[in-house]
Amino acid sequence: AFASFKEVLLDGLKNGYAVGQFNMNNLEFTQAIVEAANEEKSPVILGCSEGAIKYMGIDYTVAMARVAAETAKVPVILHLDHGPSFEYVVKCVRAGFSSIMIDASHYALEQNIELTKRVVELCHPLGIEVEGELGRIGGTEDDLTVDERDATLALPAEAKRLVEESGIDALAPAIGSAHGVYVGTPKLAFDRLEEIRDLLPTTPMVLHGGSGIPDEDIRKAISLGVSKINVNTENQIALTQTIREIFAKDAKVYDPRKYLGPGKAAIKEVVKEKMRLFGSSGRA
Ligand code: G3H
Ligand code: ZN
Repeated sequence: AFASFKEVLLDGLKNGYAVGQFNMNNLEFTQAIVEAANEEKSPVILGCSEGAIKYMGIDYTVAMARVAAETAKVPVILHLDHGPSFEYVVKCVRAGFSSIMIDASHYALEQNIELTKRVVELCHPLGIEVEGELGRIGGTEDDLTVDERDATLALPAEAKRLVEESGIDALAPAIGSAHGVYVGTPKLAFDRLEEIRDLLPTTPMVLHGGSGIPDEDIRKAISLGVSKINVNTENQIALTQTIREIFAKDAKVYDPRKYLGPGKAAIKEVVKEKMRLFGSSGRA
């Protein structure tokens, strides 16, 4: 069975570490992520966006994650990443997801609270916990693109209202990180993160756009209350880079296992490094 999202995050918050959410893109990602978690003795969150679910098929997605959770020796969670609507959340809950993110951050605050609260009211009675988002996280993830000019930081007073009025279990406040590959070095608004943490000291916070953020900034974010960090792009790059090198060296290779195998191993290495950086290694 899948582990409890809230329990895993609260343990991180209490003990000063963050749990990684690593996105599933296919079987190789799923295996690499869970093998890394086993070897690092770390809890792990398998994240899946609408775009990735569309690619894999929702039943295959849940089935792969279930096998991973059943065979793992560590807590495994299957989390909907950036849930786009109430209807889509219902679909994922029915299919067997164990926790949900509803991303209503593009709406005005009142509507964000309203939709997020509806999702909480659907999920909580089923034992499913919920992450909400406030402010707008820039960059591109799958089908979701937020132009840099439209990216906005979360406001502390609004964060407090969203958490208290919707009843969410974790909050993803936009603090200057972005999805995809950074142009230059990202500048995280730690003062903003600290203000939000002071208003909501018991709420686990989520850092999206975790790829490409310098290690010292990751450590600082964790010290200020971040207990979940999302990583996808760095794993995608590791896989693709490895395959590119193999193709460059051997133009005749045709057996997919000959390049997907090393690609999978490259993802696993990235995930293990992140688990050590986040401090989740040895926590399960
Ligand atoms: O929701 C998923 C993550 O926020 C992905 O972030 O593109 O920096 O890996 P990333
Ligand atoms: Zn994200």
